[in-house]
Amino acid sequence: MVSSTNDFTKLTIAKEVRGRLQEEFPSLMALAATPPAEVMKRCEVSKSSAERAVNQARKIIGMNQPTTAASLLKKELDRPRITTSSQSLDDILGGGITVGSITEFSGAFATGKTQISFQLCLNVQRSVEDGGLAGKALFLDTENTFAPARVAEMAYSYTDDPSEYLQNILVSRAYNTDHQIQLIDKADKILEKNNIRLIIIDSMASHFRAEFPGKENLPRRQQTLMAHAETLQRLAESYNLAIITTNQILSNPDNLFSGANNLEPALGFAWGHRPTHRILLRKSRGTARIARIFDSPELAEREAVYHITPQGIRDGPPLDY
Ligand SMILES: Nc1ncnc2c1ncn2[C@@H]1O[C@H](COP(=O)(O)OP(=O)(O)O)[C@@H](O)[C@H]1O
Ligand SMILES: [Mg+2]
Repeated sequence: MVSSTNDFTKLTIAKEVRGRLQEEFPSLMALAATPPAEVMKRCEVSKSSAERAVNQARKIIGMNQPTTAASLLKKELDRPRITTSSQSLDDILGGGITVGSITEFSGAFATGKTQISFQLCLNVQRSVEDGGLAGKALFLDTENTFAPARVAEMAYSYTDDPSEYLQNILVSRAYNTDHQIQLIDKADKILEKNNIRLIIIDSMASHFRAEFPGKENLPRRQQTLMAHAETLQRLAESYNLAIITTNQILSNPDNLFSGANNLEPALGFAWGHRPTHRILLRKSRGTARIARIFDSPELAEREAVYHITPQGIRDGPPLDY
C-alpha cells in the first residue's frame, strides 16, 4: 500500500459523513484517489462534504507534494515483480510483471494469453524469494475460459496438493460490460480483505467489442472504457497490485505504427494509452510462442521466446516432452 494511513478520525468532518466514508473505503488512500463526484455518489454525501473529505485525505497522505526523481527511481527499483516462470519473458519485462500499473498481453487465439494469466495467478502466491508477492489473485473471466483443472495441473509443479493455491484465486465471471465495470468499481473491499496483489481481466476486449460495434458506437465505447481504465489504474496504485489485461488483435493496414503484419491490439487508440506495458504475442513452432514489447515508457522493444508446456509457462519444452 502506498500509505498505511487508515485513520479516518484524522478527517475533520461530520461524524455521520465519516462513518459512511469508512464503510465504503478501506483506507484513506482509496478515498484520496477517488474523484469527489464518485465519493458523493457512492457514499450519498453532499458535494461539499465529498470535496472536503477527499482534499483532507490527499493532504494527510502527502499526495499534493511532488516527489524527487531520485526517490521515484528507488521506488521503481524496489518495486516487487511477479515472475512469469519464463526467464526470457521476465528479462524483456525488466524482471517480471510489475505492480502499480496495467500490463496488457495481446495476441491471436492460442498464443498463451490465458495460460500466462493462469501461471501468474499461481506465481503471485509464491514468496518474494520465489518470484511472487505472497498474495492472492482476482480473476475476472469474461469469456468463460477459466479452467480450474488446468490451473491445478500447473500448480503440481509447486505442491502435491494444489487446493490451497486454488483457494487463493478468486474468480468472478463478468457477463457484460456493465457487470465487468461494476465488479471492478466494487472491488475495494475484496482487494483489501483478501490481500489481492494481482487482478486479471481476461479479456478486456470481448464484451466491449461485442456491445459497442461499429464506428457509430466508438465515442461511447471509448468513454466507458476510459472510466473503467481509470478505476483499474487507481486500484493498481492504491493497493500496490499488478493488473493484467488481455486483448485481441486486429489487422489494420492503415496504421503505420502497428506491428508485424500490421497486427495491432484491439480497442483502439484511446485504450492504447492506458496499459503502461503492452506485449504482443504470436505463435511460433510447436509449443513455442514469441512475446514482443510493443509499447512501454521504460522497456526496450525486445522479443522473447517462451513455451506453453503441460507444467505451465517455461523457457523451453520439458526434456521428456
Ligand atoms: N494442459 C496443457 N498442456 C500443454 N499445453 C496446453 C495445455 N492447455 C492448453 N495448452 C496450450 O495453450 C494454448 C492455448 O493458450 P491460451 O492461453 O488458452 O490461448 P489464448 O491466447 O487464446 O488465451 C494452446 O496452444 C494449447 O495447446
Ligand atoms: Mg484466452
